[in-house]
Amino acid sequence: MTKKKTALPTAAIILAAGKGTRMKSELPKVMHKVAGRPMLGHVLHTADAAGLDPLVLVIAPGMHQVASLGHAFSEEVRTATQTEQLGTAHAVLCAKEVLAGFEGNLVVLYGDTPLIRPETITALLDALNKDARRGVAVLGFTPEDAAEYGRLVVNAAGDLTRIVEAKDASPEERAIRLCNSGVIALRGSVAWELLERIDNRNAKGEYYLTDVVEIAVRSGLSAVAVEADAQEVLGVNSRVDLAVADAAFQQRARHAAMLHGVTLQAPETVYFSADTELANDVIVEPNVVFGPGVVVGTRAHIKAFSHLEGCVVGEDAVVGPFARLRPGTNLGEGAKIGNFVELKKAEIGAGAKISHLSYIGDATIGDEANIGAGTITCNYDGYNKYRTIVGREAFIGSNTALVAPVKVGDGAMVAAGSVITEDIEANALALARTRQEQKAEWATGFREKQKKN
Ligand code: UD1
Ligand code: MG
Repeated sequence: MTKKKTALPTAAIILAAGKGTRMKSELPKVMHKVAGRPMLGHVLHTADAAGLDPLVLVIAPGMHQVASLGHAFSEEVRTATQTEQLGTAHAVLCAKEVLAGFEGNLVVLYGDTPLIRPETITALLDALNKDARRGVAVLGFTPEDAAEYGRLVVNAAGDLTRIVEAKDASPEERAIRLCNSGVIALRGSVAWELLERIDNRNAKGEYYLTDVVEIAVRSGLSAVAVEADAQEVLGVNSRVDLAVADAAFQQRARHAAMLHGVTLQAPETVYFSADTELANDVIVEPNVVFGPGVVVGTRAHIKAFSHLEGCVVGEDAVVGPFARLRPGTNLGEGAKIGNFVELKKAEIGAGAKISHLSYIGDATIGDEANIGAGTITCNYDGYNKYRTIVGREAFIGSNTALVAPVKVGDGAMVAAGSVITEDIEANALALARTRQEQKAEWATGFREKQKKN
């Protein structure tokens, strides 16, 4: 996604102080993952892609993981701590201090609403900026069940006049179907002044951010509602919602991959991570899992039931079926990784083949090398990890144990069943197994003896 700048500087205030009790988790709610990325990470990426800057996180005391996630995303992410959760308006006001001196517009986002797209934020800001008298723009949606959402009250002229929380609504207001997603844009020049006028005289005794609409209208400003797709503003409150959000994300990612020129033979069985990058003409067979950090080059073929994570697959490479590529793996162009092969921190050269039943970890395998079935790198002694280096065009016979640290020279060959503990020179043959002994007619004698007993 290319980063853009908003027409006017706009800050994002991302509310993440909620405990999320319904998640029944030790982890703060916004740290739970959708497509391998914490929900808050999705929101940060989206806010950044929409050109919002600075980004402010409102967290509860002790939410160190959440603050760290923000800093890992960008050192410029600011955090504000809300010591007591007195409501959404109170949460937004907690960001005032870290935004001192900033005069642009504000967009309030929720850390538990991971599916919102940058385009939607832009559309909301366009609506706010369209008219200099507009103080507030609210992102609305029409859920199947309006339940406890705030209702958007729109007058005959199409202006938003107030938001009423379900608990405070009259029966007529409860019948309104257009609801508040929680995403609200505020004109910077008036924002803090309007927010400071909000009180907590309502059914929940909370400072409602939603009251900002009525206060703006009373001050002679106008407000507007922009409708978004209900799926996009889905808020996650439970593990059930988390699964719904993930499924929606998967559908979106599969669709985007196919439009980008990737063949997905059974799209609904392929699991994507938020950062999965597949080039055009990649073919993905059914039941493939892309964990975080995977990049696949053009024309590569990922066969059924493979699991990839933290790896780069070169152009024209073939992976699987049933292959496992673990973090730090880099497959060169046209490399072939077959069934029941596990790779970890392995640099595999162009055209190299590891076709069956191997574990190759902490290793460098040269171009065009052939690693026979059942080859294992013995990389770990219980304390430390050691590297194995196999030269280009080397041939490792089946069922070889390469005891690291060890080097196999370019073009060298290793006899099947060897246990290699010493370096092998280029183009040499290494045999490291006991020689076969043959006893003529021994079996005949053995059988005759057994029959007599
Ligand atoms: C809020 C809106 C409602 C809207 C709904 C959409 C208000 C008053 N109501 O209701 O109109 O339809 O969201 O989901 O704004 N939070 C804090 N600090 C607080 C309170 C909340 O950080 O003191 C955070 C929560 O973690 C959450 C978000 O703000 O991410 C919304 O708070 P929540 O209590 O879920 O508000 P709702 O009652 O759902
Ligand atoms: Mg809520």
